[in-house]
Amino acid sequence: MQKVRKAIIPAAGLGTRFLPATKAIAKEMLPIVDKPTIQFIVEEAIASGIEDILVITGKGKRPIEDHFDANLELEQNLRAKGKKELLALVEETTAIKLHFIRQKHPRGLGDAVLQAKAFVGNEPFVVMLGDDLMEDTIPLTKQLMNDFDVTQSSTLAVMKVPHEETSRYGIINPSGKIEKGLYNVTDFVEKPTPEEAPSDLAIIGRYLLKPEIFEILEHQAPGAGGEIQLTDAINTLNNTQRVFAREFLGQRYDVGDKLGFVETNILYGLKHPEIKDDLKKFLISLVAEMDTEKK
Ligand code: G1P
Repeated sequence: MQKVRKAIIPAAGLGTRFLPATKAIAKEMLPIVDKPTIQFIVEEAIASGIEDILVITGKGKRPIEDHFDANLELEQNLRAKGKKELLALVEETTAIKLHFIRQKHPRGLGDAVLQAKAFVGNEPFVVMLGDDLMEDTIPLTKQLMNDFDVTQSSTLAVMKVPHEETSRYGIINPSGKIEKGLYNVTDFVEKPTPEEAPSDLAIIGRYLLKPEIFEILEHQAPGAGGEIQLTDAINTLNNTQRVFAREFLGQRYDVGDKLGFVETNILYGLKHPEIKDDLKKFLISLVAEMDTEKK
């Protein structure tokens, strides 16, 4: 029986949705309160029992490598000033072992994943996209790994989205359930219009894949948006071996979208021990002010 040990985090995207903020800063480094979004993803991988992580970077992504590297000057400074809690936060990021590889040309998610072929070898692995932060009692990546222990098959996480939003996602065509929340799938379609969409079940950025996907990606023609799409390769993989979809029932925060990013900052701020009380007071007074303006 095979075990999943490796994760890939594609982080080569240009981050155009957040321009001009992302002109000189990697979008993965934009913080939710005080933690870069990519750190949440790395923490989910570790909490799921992943042993080896490869981040696919591109031009301008050096800050991601620096973030997980030691910063001796900063550590010394915090130590000298007795700032133990801050020091612990900084040390937490250096304790994590990561590998990095560059995607040389921005050809799409499928091509980014293909860069991990040598790292992955002949093992099942997970792909974790940075635009979705997930919260549940069992981390979503771990849920997919638990499914794999039983099925030994590729499985993607999906979630119901509003019908008018299907063109933002890969959408599955489900064909019956294997068990509660685990679907058989006939088609995987990248970014269909609401008219074309076979369902409202969208792929949400966590994939557990078998290594045969790489042979398909090597010959994958560009699809939606002229990019090499992971969804198209998965659709082909499903012709030769079963690919399942696991419905996620936890909380998803879409931080790849402006509104979702701001909302997530507020929601995490309301849980953050340092600022939660003051943020709550601020929001209550803001709502009261808006109500009086309306009258
Ligand atoms: C990518 C995938 C898409 C998936 C989405 C989830 O799209 O191509 O299938 O539904 O991530 O966030 P992107 O958001 O990179 O355009």
